[in-house]
Amino acid sequence: MSAEPLEIYLQEEQLGRQLRQDVRVGLTARPKCLPPKWFYDARGSELFEEITRLPEYYPTRAERAILAEHADEIATRTGVKTLIELGSGSSDKTRLLLDAFSRHGGLGTFVPLDVSISALRQSTAEIAADYPGLRVRGVVGDFTRHLDRLPAGGGRLVAFLGGTIGNLAPDERAPFLAGMRAALEAGDWLLIGTDLVKDPAVIVPAYDDAAGVTAEFNRNVLRVLNRELGADFDPDAFAHVALWDAEREWIEMRLRSRRAQRVRVRDLGLEVDFAEGEELRTEISAKFRPEGIQAELDRAGFATRARWTDADSLFAVSLAQVR
Ligand code: SAH
Ligand code: AVI
Repeated sequence: MSAEPLEIYLQEEQLGRQLRQDVRVGLTARPKCLPPKWFYDARGSELFEEITRLPEYYPTRAERAILAEHADEIATRTGVKTLIELGSGSSDKTRLLLDAFSRHGGLGTFVPLDVSISALRQSTAEIAADYPGLRVRGVVGDFTRHLDRLPAGGGRLVAFLGGTIGNLAPDERAPFLAGMRAALEAGDWLLIGTDLVKDPAVIVPAYDDAAGVTAEFNRNVLRVLNRELGADFDPDAFAHVALWDAEREWIEMRLRSRRAQRVRVRDLGLEVDFAEGEELRTEISAKFRPEGIQAELDRAGFATRARWTDADSLFAVSLAQVR
């Protein structure tokens, strides 16, 4: 079966409006910040895929190992008809689930949802070609806004992999999980990947690799602003910073202005001054403790049915069910 045309929950006009709003708010805030979802144009999605293959970036490999070991159990235990994946990207690890569902039968529809249209175009075409008989309904959408529109009924499993929940601020996580609970029915399932708290000597290099791929990924957000809003950022005038916040147990990515400079964002009529050394926060990536994950799921109305880690306890995948 070929992939169905992408369903667009997020029109380009809406996306542009959100970008303008986020950039205006973020660049006039103190300290300056930008939400991480704007990394992911076609180049940003490619750079993220490159990151997943870096020797320092352990989360993808660790999560893949967990899924390889437990995919059959996930397929048999949930026995769902529909698999929905939020922030699906390339859906590469998700193939382990699709393979397991193929072995055990029953899965009819796969619904990857992502804000990156380029990633979705490629992944839906490849998955539809490789899994004949599976209905592949790609959705261009924002997982913080469009959960209420997900296809209903028939037994659903929502996969939210990669540790992407850690890119939400703590005060965004509870409403996000509550929104997901509201979009699902009793008995539906959630499979959620979370990176675990560990020695910062392991975490920091994963966000500051020797080849400089993460630095390029970080600076890519400035290229997006240049292209989409007619801004005149010089990406090379910003240094990549990855900082472990031991108290809040998250990594912060920032862009540090190498010199005093003024940046114009033409479409917003905005001029923004950066002092030398001033930092713009572009992402947090929260790391979790097992009991914390379970408590957050519990508060949102999900009962944790299983939680697995890789051999080195770097990463956890939790399987939870709507109570
Ligand atoms: N799940 C994949 C990709 C993780 S990268 C993996 O585990 O490797 C994060 C993905 O989430 C990107 O593809 C990005 O485009 C998407 N994303 C980020 N913020 C989003 C949002 N608010 N709504 C929908 N997708 C989002
Ligand atoms: C998508 N997300 C889980 C990645 C992370 O690790 O927080 C994004 C990323 N940022 C830098 N490297 C990868």
